[in-house]
Amino acid sequence: MSLWGGRFSEPTDGDLQALNDSIGFDIRFYREDIEGSMAYAKAIAKAGVITSDESEKIIAGLKQVLDEFESDTFELKEGDEDIHTAVERRLTEIVGDVGGKLHTGRSRNDQVATDFRLWAMRQTDVLDEILLTLQETLIDVSEDHTETLLPGYTHMQPAQPITVAHWLMSFFWMLNRDRDRLQSARGRIAVLPLGSGALAGNPFPIDRDLLVNELDFILYSQNSLDSVSDRDFVADLLYVMSLCATHLSRLAEDIIIYSNPLFAYITLNDRYSTGSSLMPQKRNADPMELMRGKAGRLIGNLTGFLATLKGLPSGYNKDLQEDKEALFDSFDMMFKLLPVVIAIVKTLNINPEKMEQALGEELLATDIADYLVRKGLPFRQAHHVVGEVVRTASTSGIKMSEIPLEKFTEISDLFDEDVYEVFNFAQSVQQRSVDGGTAPSAVKRQIELAKSMLNN
Ligand code: ARG
Repeated sequence: MSLWGGRFSEPTDGDLQALNDSIGFDIRFYREDIEGSMAYAKAIAKAGVITSDESEKIIAGLKQVLDEFESDTFELKEGDEDIHTAVERRLTEIVGDVGGKLHTGRSRNDQVATDFRLWAMRQTDVLDEILLTLQETLIDVSEDHTETLLPGYTHMQPAQPITVAHWLMSFFWMLNRDRDRLQSARGRIAVLPLGSGALAGNPFPIDRDLLVNELDFILYSQNSLDSVSDRDFVADLLYVMSLCATHLSRLAEDIIIYSNPLFAYITLNDRYSTGSSLMPQKRNADPMELMRGKAGRLIGNLTGFLATLKGLPSGYNKDLQEDKEALFDSFDMMFKLLPVVIAIVKTLNINPEKMEQALGEELLATDIADYLVRKGLPFRQAHHVVGEVVRTASTSGIKMSEIPLEKFTEISDLFDEDVYEVFNFAQSVQQRSVDGGTAPSAVKRQIELAKSMLNN
């Protein structure tokens, strides 16, 4: 029997029931639903709506319902439309009519909003913990590669040499901002809707501070009409996860490219690459392609849910039931992807020789311009002069470092014997030692700062 059958003379159509029911997915937050009800039983007892005896009975009954869920012995019954209905139905079977007093002043509208926030806060904390592990892993691998050089790219064209640690640490900072956003979203989730009733508020003098404390929220909401339909926190989390997945998708793309045999900068560990059923030579970066692919799905969850919200009139509307599968799916994807991403970073076989072979002298063109700048030439002119050097080398089919000194001085009389010292990749990198740069000294400071941030 449903919770609301009184005014109907015919039972609900089966097809509608299948469409309407959310028990298939909201069963995931049975714990939060039961904890919310336990707190509410205390609040209505304090308000004098039920006696403390009745409250204790209800709480003991709820405890038994929780045990049944935890031991996998809870039996769903016909009419258990959602988790709230199922728990109340079972509670009443256990404690009798007094169970029917629990819902006084409460609506499933403030109840579901409360449960889902509680669940979301907990998942947010789990996600944060895993992102932290990924940050620590990036630091660990970076520490071994503060001197390892590889070509840095802009427009995917060779640009300037950088260190492997600098490359990997760039993702540390993206994740740091993601975690920052997650924390800030968490603060907005921790605003308690319970006590808002269906839309207009609770007619009994319940102590909402008590509810906040019982359920580990930070504040309670200030407008019941807003709070029963506020799903900003769902959109917030879907966004934070989409952006985080977008960052990880970029890491994935780098790894896909760098593990391609044309680059071979890295080799994926056997455990984290897949073969082809047809082509025996293949070692595919499937996990990284899945990371890239799932990012699209996460973005879809965000845009889909925003579309759900945009036309809603004030108050609760059943459309809001769509919040759950979107958020469940995004969390599930993140929890599936992240352990694999962490393992891939941890087991990355970095091939310094391949990276070194890929360092062409063109990556030092800026350094030659800087050399001329140090001799007094304005940068814009130096840029032009080095353009001529590059052209001279390429038309004669030689490397820039093979251009004879007479040729160099023909192009600019600022060139001297010491120009040949510029053709040194390690030195090029060492020079970029200002904070934030790729020099090993700067990257070591970057890593120290990152570590101290994680320790705080
Ligand atoms: N299953 C519903 C949801 O997820 C619970 C709230 C139902 N409220 C209502 N007025 N029908 O949103």
